[in-house]
Amino acid sequence: MEKNIEQIQEQALKELEVAADVESIKDLSILYLGRKGKVTQFLRSIADLPPEQKPEAGKKANETKRLLDAKFKKAIKQLETASSESEGCIDVSLPGRVVRQGSLHPITQIAQQICDIFIKLGFDIAEGPEVETDYYNFEALNIPKNHPARDMQDTFYVSKNIVLRTHTSPTQPRIMEQQKPPVRIIAPGKVYRCDSDLTHTPMFHQVEGLLVDKGISFGDLKGVLTTFVHQMFDTETNLRFRPSYFPFTEPSAEVDIRCVICRGAGCRVCSHTGWLEVLGSGMVHPAVFENVGYDTTRYSGFAFGMGVERIAMLKYRIDDIRKYFENDLRFLRQF
Ligand code: FA5
Ligand code: MG
Repeated sequence: MEKNIEQIQEQALKELEVAADVESIKDLSILYLGRKGKVTQFLRSIADLPPEQKPEAGKKANETKRLLDAKFKKAIKQLETASSESEGCIDVSLPGRVVRQGSLHPITQIAQQICDIFIKLGFDIAEGPEVETDYYNFEALNIPKNHPARDMQDTFYVSKNIVLRTHTSPTQPRIMEQQKPPVRIIAPGKVYRCDSDLTHTPMFHQVEGLLVDKGISFGDLKGVLTTFVHQMFDTETNLRFRPSYFPFTEPSAEVDIRCVICRGAGCRVCSHTGWLEVLGSGMVHPAVFENVGYDTTRYSGFAFGMGVERIAMLKYRIDDIRKYFENDLRFLRQF
């Protein structure tokens, strides 16, 4: 009798092994565990056994019943998940996977707009290295070693004489060394300073401008920068030239634009002044001309360096410059 249930179990497992689909496993289940199934009939037949054999036979039969039930269910489940997976691959009715289109970073877009305006005004594009020598970043620009003006820009030093450029102004002496006047260039690029708050980031972008020719005056500087601001924003935009100091320009001025966040009423972005500084500028200092061998009696010129992020903040009304560099796609997709 015991041998019989073992044979039944063995036979059922063999048949399960070759069952290829859910239907045939369900049939097997009926054949063995159904009301007239082999295991069920065996269980019924236990009643006829001598009393001393009943417990052992009952135990074995119940074990077989549980085991087969579990194996059948497991096999059915496996076949069902396998088929749903393979169906997923070829379900032509499912919506397609969207390939997201990338776009230019807002700072890149603004830098391009700035360049476009100056190109229309007759400027050419120039470039310089981001890892710069102390000479071009400072000394050629009339900022000697240990000069207090070095404090104006908190510098990342690579080594004693190599820095991450703190501004795009080193392109001025680099270009003038290679080119005789007239010079009319802009130089966009990344610059680095140990700075971080609402309006300062350690890496930011500047666009340098340099124009050298005979008879260039501060009036030309004002005219070009005012034209730029009116084209970048609109002709209603208020700007002011505020006297300032740079060792490489004399006289020097910084240009502020009416804060668009508070419309001049004063807020944390403009440090409650109503104005946001966007650029530094001035007439090229004679010492800089001398460093590159330009004749200061024949030529004069102006230069400026503007912060691209600041222009972008005003253009898009962004109240924290650091948002541009957090790589939050919800923010970046708006532009
Ligand atoms: C300069 O960097 C001068 N080289 C500009 C210049 C060029 C003057 C040619 C004269 C002739 P300044 O440190 O002020 O100046 O920076 C210029 C502009 O860069 C600022 O007006 C501001 O718009 C922007 N800026 C400065 N520091 C940061 C910073 N950490 N994060 C973002 N923007 C900044
Ligand atoms: Mg400044």
